[in-house]
Amino acid sequence: MIKNIKEKIKRYKESENISERLIYNFLNTLRMPYLLLTNSRLRVELFEKWKNNNNHHQISTFTGNNRYPLLFKECTQYLQKIEKPQIISFGCSTGEEVRTLGEYIPAAIIYGIDINKWCIKQCKKHNSSTSHYFYHRTSKEFETVQNVDAIFCMAVFQRTDDRLPNKKHNTKLFTFKAFEEEILLLDRKLNKNGLLIIDFSDFNFMDTVVAKNYVPLNFENNQILRKFPLFDRNNHKVSEEKFLYRVFVKQEK
Ligand SMILES: C[S@@+](CC[C@H](N)C(=O)[O-])C[C@H]1O[C@@H](n2cnc3c(N)ncnc32)[C@H](O)[C@@H]1O
Repeated sequence: MIKNIKEKIKRYKESENISERLIYNFLNTLRMPYLLLTNSRLRVELFEKWKNNNNHHQISTFTGNNRYPLLFKECTQYLQKIEKPQIISFGCSTGEEVRTLGEYIPAAIIYGIDINKWCIKQCKKHNSSTSHYFYHRTSKEFETVQNVDAIFCMAVFQRTDDRLPNKKHNTKLFTFKAFEEEILLLDRKLNKNGLLIIDFSDFNFMDTVVAKNYVPLNFENNQILRKFPLFDRNNHKVSEEKFLYRVFVKQEK
């Protein structure tokens, strides 16, 4: 019964009904002091939100082990002809994605990149591999990473706060301009025939200027229906759900 009440209150968070949202916010405020004392991830996320750093896209650091098994499997198969593939996990959070990729491709050199210093600290603390490296997004080390064979951008090019009911029609916190700049930077680091993997994004990779140099990798369910708002080059919402490709191959020019 307590579980049901908790679930019901959780649903109030995104409710269109203002009283339900107020109830959620009130109860959430009561819970906050306890959570703040006991949960360092939450503390860090709130601090980042408060700082309102423009370079920071997604504030949530939510992640998990083997979160995208189909994509990991297909990319492993594609990369198998490369002896020691170099891979970037862009927005690596606390490192689970890097560790998972290391299990799929033990020979790979993997760079976990994140803008959140706490995340990079956690990654380094729990890392036991000599071929996994963790760098801050603005570090010199990341600048020098190049000629990579695959770049995973999972759940990083989004800002879930932009999807709240009162901000329905435009993205403001994370814009298409910022998205495209990041894509251009990553494109420069990616080898010809390399893979760019993007999922859970506020924008469509196909709208970027470099998309003409890429084709979707051919495998079943590369294209998937994503049920969240998608925004265009002018940051206007264009749809509530859309079929999107997730894995792209960079073409020879
Ligand atoms: C929701 S987590 C996704 C983690 C992992 N990729 C996954 O899908 O499980 C998003 C991560 O992106 C990071 N991030 C946000 N803005 C970034 C930026 N400009 N450069 C690199 N990482 C960023 C956040 O700090 C956070 O750890």
